[in-house]
Amino acid sequence: MIERTLCLIKPDATKRNLIGAILSMIEGKGLTIKALKKLKLTKEQAATFYIVHKERPFYNDLINYMTSGPIVAAILEGENAVKAYRELMGATNPENAEQGTIRKTYALNLEANSVHGSDSPENAAIETAFMFSGLENC
Ligand code: CMP
Repeated sequence: MIERTLCLIKPDATKRNLIGAILSMIEGKGLTIKALKKLKLTKEQAATFYIVHKERPFYNDLINYMTSGPIVAAILEGENAVKAYRELMGATNPENAEQGTIRKTYALNLEANSVHGSDSPENAAIETAFMFSGLENC
C-alpha cells in the first residue's frame, strides 16, 4: 500500500552537513520526497511535537536538543513507507542499529540519533499535518 510518513533530520546531522547524504539514502531506498523544508523549532513547537514523551525522563533534554539547531522536515511517500523508512533509519540507539542504516552510519548516540520517523500511519498523518500545510505538500 502506498503510504506517507514524516522524516526529520535532527540538529546533530544538519550541523555536520549530512542533509544531502541522508536524503540520498532515503531516495536510494525508493522513497519519494513529497515535501521538504529546513527550519528551527521553538521550545514550544518541540514540546508539542514530542508531547507523547512528556512523562519520560529524557523529555526536557530532548526538547533542548531538538531546538539546539536547524532541522529538516520531509514528507516521504512509497510502498509501506512507515515501515520502509523505519527499517532504513535503524534502531533508536545507534549501538543497536544494523549496518547500512542511517543511524548506524551517522548517529552519535541515543539522543543525537540523526533522524526521526513516524511510528505508525496514524502518527504520520498527525506529524505531517503539524510540520506542513496543504500548500507545501505535493
Ligand atoms: P525519536 O525517534 O525522535 O523519538 C524520541 C527521541 O527521544 C528519540 O528519537 C531520541 O532522539 C530521544 N531519546 C533520548 N533518550 C531516549 C531514550 N532513553 N529512549 C528513547 N528515546 C530517547
